[in-house]
Amino acid sequence: MKENENIVWHNHQISQAERANMKGQKPCILWFTGLSGSGKSTVANAVENLLFQQGKHTYLLDGDNVRHGLNKGLSFSDADRIENIRRVGEVAKLFSDAGLIVITAFISPFKADRDMVRALVKPDEFIEVFIDTPLSVCEQRDPKGLYKKARAGEIKDFTGIDSPYEAPEKPEICIVNDDILIEQAAQQVIDYLKCHQYI
Ligand code: ADX
Repeated sequence: MKENENIVWHNHQISQAERANMKGQKPCILWFTGLSGSGKSTVANAVENLLFQQGKHTYLLDGDNVRHGLNKGLSFSDADRIENIRRVGEVAKLFSDAGLIVITAFISPFKADRDMVRALVKPDEFIEVFIDTPLSVCEQRDPKGLYKKARAGEIKDFTGIDSPYEAPEKPEICIVNDDILIEQAAQQVIDYLKCHQYI
């Protein structure tokens, strides 16, 4: 028996477009990707803050937080990272369907997984935001002391050390974040949303 054989899709009366209209915005997924310590969460937070101040309806999904709940128990093996991103992609899709501007901050190291999420939604609903901070800068910042532990062999499969990171080739937004101000980086995202009439 096929997995979905006895499960039937219900069409709902209220559409994504209607929910979005009520909120005065075009829903989308701002998908932040980058190394640990690159500044994803910080910039994502600043973006949400600016959107909130403009009366926009948002939700921020963050790797460290989601791994405390929905994705508790997933490791950093390739297979578990793939499952992490698959679940987050589905949740982001639901929230976008609810009419929200969804902001996600996950390392999401594999191009295929990011492309898989992109393929879940409409072509202009997925906006890849690459926080392009060099490994050396992330390692120097080391806000959680994890690079130090990874170098000492206390953490296995650490992204950039003994686990790969595949940088996006054509992200919609690229933030070169070696010493750029957080506000400037966040404004770059807001400008993109305005220019493409999401807000
Ligand atoms: S992802 O690769 O599956 O997308 P995710 O964004 O959810 O990663 O979680 C990354 C966060 O988990 C990092 O910011 C860091 O705080 C923590 N972490 C703990 N162990 C690792 C590891 N082995 N590799 C990367 N990040 C780790």
